[in-house]
Amino acid sequence: MRTTYDAIIIGGGVIGCSIAYELCKRNKRVLLLEKETIGSRASSAAAGMLGAEMEFETDHPLYLLAKESRNAFTPLSQELFDVCGIDIELIQKGIYELAFTEEEADDLKREAAKRRDQDEEVFWLSAEELIIKEPALSSLVKGALYFEKDAQVSPVKLTRALYQSAKILGAEIKERTEVVELLQTNNRVTGVVTTKETFHADSVIVACGVWSSEIEPSLKMVPVKGECLSFKTQRPLLTGTVKYKNCYLVPKRENQIFVGATSTPHVFDEEVTFSGLFELMEKAKQIVPELSGAHFEKAWGGIRPQTLSGQPYIGPSPHKEGLILATGHYRNGILLSAITGKRIADHIESEVYQS
Ligand code: FAD
Ligand code: GLY
Repeated sequence: MRTTYDAIIIGGGVIGCSIAYELCKRNKRVLLLEKETIGSRASSAAAGMLGAEMEFETDHPLYLLAKESRNAFTPLSQELFDVCGIDIELIQKGIYELAFTEEEADDLKREAAKRRDQDEEVFWLSAEELIIKEPALSSLVKGALYFEKDAQVSPVKLTRALYQSAKILGAEIKERTEVVELLQTNNRVTGVVTTKETFHADSVIVACGVWSSEIEPSLKMVPVKGECLSFKTQRPLLTGTVKYKNCYLVPKRENQIFVGATSTPHVFDEEVTFSGLFELMEKAKQIVPELSGAHFEKAWGGIRPQTLSGQPYIGPSPHKEGLILATGHYRNGILLSAITGKRIADHIESEVYQS
């Protein structure tokens, strides 16, 4: 049995699976180790928004990276379908940021003008224009900033498709296998020790989400708990995703709507609370009144992996040779998964090329 690889990835969330897939496309021998089951933690709690323009101001350091990643989903969804037959349910109908007061409308109009000056595909829609596009919205809405190119996917199907495709292309994947320690010689990481075995590789990638600091203590992670719920409706109520303050409604296939999300820093549990759900349901009803008659489906919680700086770690460790970091994607790990996989695979390929 093989115990030596080009790359070992620790963590089978969307980030680890994306890296595995990109490395396999480049013919690398890959081992992915997951403590529980693939996609069981933050990656299956997400709403799946690809909100590059909605989440980031144009001068934010992640803005261009996020747009590049969002745009990569069009070819990626076809590619994954061709390799493994899973449809990641990419829906490209934009995201609306709503205004319910004149003051909010003025702020969003100013933002629209600023973005239009920078040639962005972001528009202000008046209440009349908005209601034509999304007739189920509350009649109290004053208009919306429309991020036309933003999109969404099924996070569960995306993670599964990346995992299945990596496997088809040759990755070895071990679930219920916890990495307990990095193998190191001097300052170079040479492999990992799991609860069962020891494995060796030229590169070891930490993609353990909020648990990354357990493997590499120099990573300072901040857990940010989020709760969501979903409804089923009799008829389609929305085409695009809508957002008002901290509440968003994401319309999925078959009349399912995800409603998210609470945000509680420094909390590590995934429990769903009465107050969390109540807050989300109240806001959802304010946005789409007809939702009060919808069928409640399920509720869930997850932990967003934030870093102290707020920026993800994507690239070689500054402290240890052979160690690569891919963690801390906070609110945008689904969005940034495509570009993270590519950037890490580029780095590993260039290292091999140079040596
Ligand atoms: P995870 O999915 O947490 O995966 C890490 C994996 O590492 C886990 O499976 C864990 O078991 C494993 N692991 C940990 N330690 C070890 C070990 N020692 N050995 C082996 N395996 C280990 N992002 C978006 O882009 N759009 C959204 O709409 C969105 N909505 C969200 C809504 C909510 C409520 C939440 C909570 C998050 C949301 N996010 C969203 C953020 C997104 O879910 C995360 O940024 C992303 O899933 C992080 O992926 P990850 O692979 O880094 O972490
Ligand atoms: N990106 C949405 C969330 O984290 O709730």
